[in-house]
Amino acid sequence: MSNQSQWKTSTGFILASAGSAIGLGAMWKFPYMAGIYGGGAFLLMFLIFTIFVGLPLLIMEFTVGKMGRTYTTQIYSKLTGKKWLNLIGWNGNLAVLILFGFYSVIGGWIIIYMGNVIVQALSFKPISLTSIKFEDIISNPWLTVLGQGIFIFLTMIIVMLGVEKGLEKASKIMMPLLFIFLLIIVVKSLTLDGALEGVRYILQPRLHDVSMEGVLFALGQSFFTLSLGTTGMITYASYAPKEMTIKSSAISIVVMNILVSILAGLAIFPALKAFGYQPQEGPGLLFKVLPLVFNQMHFGAIFYFIFLVLFLFAALTSSISLLELNVSNFTKNDNRKRKRVAFIGSVLVFVISIPATLSFSSLSDVKIGAGTIFDNMDFIVSNILMPIGALGTTLVVGQLLDKKLLQESFGKDKFKLFLPWYYLIKFVMPVVIILVFIVQLV
Ligand code: TRP
Repeated sequence: MSNQSQWKTSTGFILASAGSAIGLGAMWKFPYMAGIYGGGAFLLMFLIFTIFVGLPLLIMEFTVGKMGRTYTTQIYSKLTGKKWLNLIGWNGNLAVLILFGFYSVIGGWIIIYMGNVIVQALSFKPISLTSIKFEDIISNPWLTVLGQGIFIFLTMIIVMLGVEKGLEKASKIMMPLLFIFLLIIVVKSLTLDGALEGVRYILQPRLHDVSMEGVLFALGQSFFTLSLGTTGMITYASYAPKEMTIKSSAISIVVMNILVSILAGLAIFPALKAFGYQPQEGPGLLFKVLPLVFNQMHFGAIFYFIFLVLFLFAALTSSISLLELNVSNFTKNDNRKRKRVAFIGSVLVFVISIPATLSFSSLSDVKIGAGTIFDNMDFIVSNILMPIGALGTTLVVGQLLDKKLLQESFGKDKFKLFLPWYYLIKFVMPVVIILVFIVQLV
């Protein structure tokens, strides 16, 4: 994305945008949210929101990107002639800055777990995955700040060198591999004693588990995994080849995200029940449970390490696009500025990320509302800034843009979906998002 060049094929575009969209959201955040808000009931709400709200909004972002073909801090004025509407783009930039701040905490944990396996391997004793204790790791502020610093540093170097394209190529191999690994974990997890209870927990919706909060967080989760409202997907579409097929690209990304989320759930909950954990473990869920599953496999430590590498890769393909969004908006193709802007952006993210990390140790008692600083950063992004960005774009698309031009950008329409989609964006989506805001405030 370092220059305005286009991907040569529609597949290249799908791979790149999927690499950006599929990251910690599906694998780490989905299971932990589902564990807090009712398992199967959360999955069901997430599916409904992702298909009926997320998908139309993703199609909208692709359509806008394809029409506008420029930076997200200019695209709104370019399309409407109104400069102040670029605020929607800036809202996205703010969102990804904060998002990267807490994303890097989790990226850092992955690196620390990798480091742990390496250190054990170097001691030439048998590696014991069960000896890696999540609580010990997160309660060490220096270690976690170091981990997240490394994660941000890696992201910065990749963006500075402008080698994202190479990473996108690598993701052709890494993403399918990660998928295969997830399948292996699911199979192993399902064969554990007591696994069935976990399967039921995540697949069977129990209505009495539905809470208003759960509904709001399920919607936030849909926004988060599909990167909606952060202008990330608009950016990708603005570089896409002319013949990109908006609908099938959006559907692929939605389907992949749903699949990975469900697999992550099936990997974790059966094992969780088998090992006697509670679903409400919070952000540490995946990190606590998976080592126990790998521990039951032959060559478990090696497989676990490879899994961590792939997981880190998935997180990095998202974090580089988080940083790149800000870098490209500030450098505007002037590559002489790239290194400096990437550096300043990364330092800023690092500063923002420190209170997020310390929410798990020295600042764990600092609560705003019911949550820690980390929870609040996530809430501000997933439940406020992302919906605001999406709302702004629905209003622009529904009220200001020319219907004919939209239809052109929407592309071939064998199934006559344009009009239903258009009216959904024009009349229904803004009402839904505003209603959610009102409920949230109350
Ligand atoms: N969808 C990403 C994930 O699931 C997170 C994300 C949200 C993101 N907005 C973004 C990633 C913008 C890159 C760019 O992990």
